[in-house]
Amino acid sequence: MSRGSILAIDDEQNIRHLIESEFSMEGLAVTTAGSGEEGLKLFDTEEFDVVLLDINLPKLNGVEVLKRLKQKSPDTEVIMITGYGDIKSAVDSIKQGARDYITKPFKLDEILALVKQAVKENRDHSKIKGEASEKGLEESLDYINCPSQAMRPAYALAKKVAATDITVLIQGETGTGKDVMAKQIHRQSKRNDGPFIILDCGLLTQNLAESELYGHRKGAFSGASERKLGLVEKSNNGTLFLDEIGNIDLELQKKFLRFLETRRFRRVGETQESQLDTRIILATNMNLQEALKKGDLREDLFYRMDVIQIYLPPLRERPEDIECLARHFLQEDTFEIGPKRISGDALKILTAYPWPGNLRELKSVINKAAILADSEIIMPQALPSHLALNKEVRCRPSRTLKDIEKEHILKVLEETGGNQSKASEILGINRKTLYKKIHTYKIFS
Ligand SMILES: Nc1ncnc2c1ncn2[C@@H]1O[C@H](COP(=O)(O)OP(=O)(O)O)[C@@H](O)[C@H]1O
Ligand SMILES: [Mg+2]
Repeated sequence: MSRGSILAIDDEQNIRHLIESEFSMEGLAVTTAGSGEEGLKLFDTEEFDVVLLDINLPKLNGVEVLKRLKQKSPDTEVIMITGYGDIKSAVDSIKQGARDYITKPFKLDEILALVKQAVKENRDHSKIKGEASEKGLEESLDYINCPSQAMRPAYALAKKVAATDITVLIQGETGTGKDVMAKQIHRQSKRNDGPFIILDCGLLTQNLAESELYGHRKGAFSGASERKLGLVEKSNNGTLFLDEIGNIDLELQKKFLRFLETRRFRRVGETQESQLDTRIILATNMNLQEALKKGDLREDLFYRMDVIQIYLPPLRERPEDIECLARHFLQEDTFEIGPKRISGDALKILTAYPWPGNLRELKSVINKAAILADSEIIMPQALPSHLALNKEVRCRPSRTLKDIEKEHILKVLEETGGNQSKASEILGINRKTLYKKIHTYKIFS
């Protein structure tokens, strides 16, 4: 597979044609299907990097197709095509594992940018998960250390632990760079020649888990016609990266704990235990203290083992890194088209935005801007409008007192859980006045 392979599932023939012709011109291999059933069937014989999936399909709807597709091929990236007013299903589909969604009518440039980026990331990812990973990480990894004070402890710790075999836990919001930091630690360690195996704990189910993780001997259960090497065993002499560890259920955490402590495991159907030599790196986007308190994580998972914690702060807490990262992502752009510079105004907008999706969101914005830009330099127009909007909102001078009053009432009501007598006390007005204001501002409608 050298070209990116795309499957477009849409019941509208003209959309299928449009995607087919435009994407082929861009060097992507496109297959189309007019229904969810037809699309799913293709997965029996073919592999696709990216699927463009219409959410509004007759019979089997898009979200259902997405679910089944992810079961058949968890690594395929799916981008949903949604109609106006489908936001709820779009959000549902993200929860079901879709990568992104785009609303009809869409600009071809925009969808092309999304698809190209998805192809690229999918390739990077499967390279690591697939065969190549067993020989070690061959592809170059563009890891960059940026200047913020906030990241210093993380870089320093990563460097220190790389030289050891100690178990590391990387914590940070999604998109802060946990995966790449784990890879970086592996590369800088003496296990660099060994495999780097990623296990996405969110995908583990109780049943799947044991044989996927530990492998099984031939005939261990009906259907086990061959001996199978588990992921855990594949990581021997290398690093096992347990991503989103907070997503395994408590029962599995318990079973896992023994392996983590001893590196001993038993293949399904065998009686003897085997011993591995594996470095373990864990990652979670949960706030650990909270997760432990709520009982989502077992305390002993962390406290019985020697674990070094590395915390990756969100991008909004290190805005001074935005410029460094934006330039880096622009240089890294593998399609080698478009500009390599960012205008001062565009940079201002990037720096003012709070980046809820962290580095991943920044990278995606930069890649899209590089494709959309009309000149050598990325100007503000090439950035998605909500970034600039955000800046306007934050220093919008044209707000009336009424706007501010409404916002304040809303905030107090949120704080009091909607309790109007408490809220009126805090606001220093009587309940009747508050009631009127709620009515005037249509707060609850
Ligand atoms: N230090 C870094 N240097 C270069 N790219 C980075 C760095 N940190 C994060 N990224 C990029 O940001 C994106 C998100 O990183 P990732 O490791 O997947 O985050 P997480 O696992 O925390 O969700 C990826 O595209 C990654 O390549
Ligand atoms: Mg991750």
